[in-house]
Amino acid sequence: MGSDSFINDVIWGLSDPQKHLPSKYFYDEKGSRIFQEIMQMDEYYLPACEREILYKQSQQIANEINHEEFDIIELGAGDGSKTMVFLEEVIKTGKKTTYVPMDISSDILEVNKRQIKQKLPDLTVETLPGDYFYTIKTINSYSRPRLVMFMGSNIGNFPGEKAIEFIRFVNDHLNPGDYFLMGVDLKKNPHVIRAAYNDKKGITKRFNLNLLERINRELKGDFNLKAFEHYGVYNPLEGAALSFLVSMQEQDVHIANHTFHFDKYETIHTEVSQKYSLKDLDQLAIKTGFSWDRHFTDSRGYYSLSLFRK
Ligand SMILES: C[S@@+](CC[C@H](N)C(=O)[O-])C[C@H]1O[C@@H](n2cnc3c(N)ncnc32)[C@H](O)[C@@H]1O
Repeated sequence: MGSDSFINDVIWGLSDPQKHLPSKYFYDEKGSRIFQEIMQMDEYYLPACEREILYKQSQQIANEINHEEFDIIELGAGDGSKTMVFLEEVIKTGKKTTYVPMDISSDILEVNKRQIKQKLPDLTVETLPGDYFYTIKTINSYSRPRLVMFMGSNIGNFPGEKAIEFIRFVNDHLNPGDYFLMGVDLKKNPHVIRAAYNDKKGITKRFNLNLLERINRELKGDFNLKAFEHYGVYNPLEGAALSFLVSMQEQDVHIANHTFHFDKYETIHTEVSQKYSLKDLDQLAIKTGFSWDRHFTDSRGYYSLSLFRK
């Protein structure tokens, strides 16, 4: 990701009447480390739910795929540690597969391949570094039926219509009989959701503020970090958890010859985490061109691994 697009996105976002910054810029080295801490927080229930489903129901999910041979393509695979549980179960069923993890970070793909090969030495792993909006085009070179995976509730970061657009885009690259498996955070007690984005130790606050720190570091900005607060809120009407940074005083911020004025209590919108009900997901499957879907949920009903078939 070049710094040109970073500076352009920052100037564009802070020039809007409702200031905003793209959440993809959270994940520099420091941000990725803080995100690892978030994944360990008691309040942040999402990874534990996804792991529970994978441990208890991977076999059922694998059995739903009615092909004896198919390839598994994972978008934004990360280190693959959760997917490994699923891959093991697929292999146990005797079905033949190749695993193709795609990620924008080639470093994380190296970790992914090393870990998977250690545990499953006979599995063919073909890493594909790059932006999945481009690398997904290569899946046509796989002649067997495909299962495309999109885990970690990443779909939640696509607001409203953008989620539909993204799933349609995935569907466009599939053949009839292919599958799409997606990790989705479900609508639930709003207090539980709100707490996930407002932890008591202030880890989410550090994560959010690191975005301003990154702008200071990489773009020579002069954000006064002490003059901004983190604010996380969940709106049950929209099913959206939203994160903001709040300017606690009237102030000017300078970035690359631009001056941005902040009124007292003016906000920068930094992230959306959309939640879905199982009925919403059935609708989503229909709207995005899938003809069949099934949901695998954890014991608390907090989270779903939803399998769609084209
Ligand atoms: C929050 S992590 C989730 C990793 C893993 N799927 C999991 O559930 O643990 C998101 C991953 O997606 C990758 N990613 C984000 N945007 C991407 C894009 N446009 N193309 C490819 N990979 C992307 C990131 O590098 C990161 O490894």
